[in-house]
Amino acid sequence: MTESVSRETPPAPPAPAAARGVFSDTLSLAEAFADLLAHEGVVRGLIGPRETPRLWDRHLLNCAVLGEALLPAASVCDIGSGAGLPGLVLAIVRPDLQVCLVEPLLRRTAFLEEAVERLGLGNVEVTRARAYEVHGTREFDVVTSRAVAPLDRLADWSMPLVRQGGQLLAMKGTTAGAEVDAAATTLRRHGAGAVDLLRLGIGVIDPPTTVVRVEATRPSRLGWDRSTAGAKGSSPRQRSRTKGRPS
Ligand SMILES: C[S@@+](CC[C@H](N)C(=O)[O-])C[C@H]1O[C@@H](n2cnc3c(N)ncnc32)[C@H](O)[C@@H]1O
Repeated sequence: MTESVSRETPPAPPAPAAARGVFSDTLSLAEAFADLLAHEGVVRGLIGPRETPRLWDRHLLNCAVLGEALLPAASVCDIGSGAGLPGLVLAIVRPDLQVCLVEPLLRRTAFLEEAVERLGLGNVEVTRARAYEVHGTREFDVVTSRAVAPLDRLADWSMPLVRQGGQLLAMKGTTAGAEVDAAATTLRRHGAGAVDLLRLGIGVIDPPTTVVRVEATRPSRLGWDRSTAGAKGSSPRQRSRTKGRPS
């Protein structure tokens, strides 16, 4: 008999009642993603085995409620997606969104591409890159992230990707307020408008998800490059300039 104990993983827990309300028609896709995370995600080391029992509350529902803050048909860039959190969950719960998952590590982008294919998601693209490598090439209505970097650094990585009038949405924990204070100068430098702390998923998850929302009052780096292209020169120069930034 073949021994395969090291690859055995406990199954994803059944979806809680709250998941039915949140995912509605897309619940079966969310369940399929939960299975992928519980098996392939754990085996490939993208998610810790101790996360399996709390996949729904701590990961899938925690991320899905971010959809409450997104306008219909928004373009979303999720930086540092890891195993697809929150970006892939948003693409499931809100099929009207167009979601770009930006993640530098090959092991993770390979998993994300397989997940997108297995779940048959037509509204997701996977980009293997660091966030700043995308600056000047794309812009989005919303840039999301969870557990990627302190807000100060996240602002440097995210704000150049947000279109004028769009939003940065950073999922944060209890440190959210302190991070906003610490990032004040950086946020100002990026032309941040209103900065709010949102609590999403009240009555669905406990504790609710805390999100820092930053409004972008300036054009994205794409707009900035376009408007200054004549003065600044060719795009290769712009590319090498952005590539040289520290991560
Ligand atoms: C702690 S993980 C969080 C993953 C996922 N967002 C989650 O909540 O489970 C941080 C992720 O950010 C990615 N990352 C690190 N530096 C990055 C950068 N400069 N641009 C984009 N992603 C980055 C890492 O590869 C990693 O997948």
